[in-house]
Amino acid sequence: MKFFVDTADTAEIRDLAETGLLDGVTTNPSLVHKSGKDFLEVVKEICGIVPGPVSAEVVATDHDEMMREAEILRKIAGNIAVKVPLTIDGLKTCKKLTADGTMVNVTLCFTANQALLAAKAGATFISPFVGRHDDIGFDGMQIISEIRMIYDNYDFETQILVASVRHPVHVLEAAKIGADVMTAPPKVIRQLFNHPLTDNGLKAFLADWEKTGQKIG
Ligand code: E4P
Repeated sequence: MKFFVDTADTAEIRDLAETGLLDGVTTNPSLVHKSGKDFLEVVKEICGIVPGPVSAEVVATDHDEMMREAEILRKIAGNIAVKVPLTIDGLKTCKKLTADGTMVNVTLCFTANQALLAAKAGATFISPFVGRHDDIGFDGMQIISEIRMIYDNYDFETQILVASVRHPVHVLEAAKIGADVMTAPPKVIRQLFNHPLTDNGLKAFLADWEKTGQKIG
């Protein structure tokens, strides 16, 4: 499963990229607002840090204007994935852009039927939001299983990008289902490394090593 980080914070992206585990980045208008930076500039900077797909979202709601914004976004770098909402205009835009060889991430997906539409529109990535579903009392992961089944039934190449990830169990479940990608905030990616037994074990090993009075090299 590929790991994308869901942030527009370039310091965090640089830091996580050094682990070698980062396959891409997703942003959205709210994350850009949080970064306090100029949208086009921050996206360009991110594209220079991570060679994998960097999702940048259009903010227009009609097809023509989405295409105009997408033209600007896709010129930023070769690793841009234009993010469009799961609407009729968004999927029209998706169809055109992917036919032209541009990566497209269809966002704000909340049902397996919506994911089916996105795959038929040639989406590179579909982003079902699991956390927001859980927030309103539904099982967000159930949709991921349904999408996996539907995409496998018809050999769709659209990659399932599990989004709105809130905790490590979401990552575990996504991997068990066989999602292609997950995108998580930096905090959740860091949580994946942690276990108290790892910390305690390391502490004990280092304390015993100290007692040997030896050095390596
Ligand atoms: C994905 O591309 C979205 O930016 C993101 O995962 C939304 O997450 P949230 O529901 O925590 O805002």
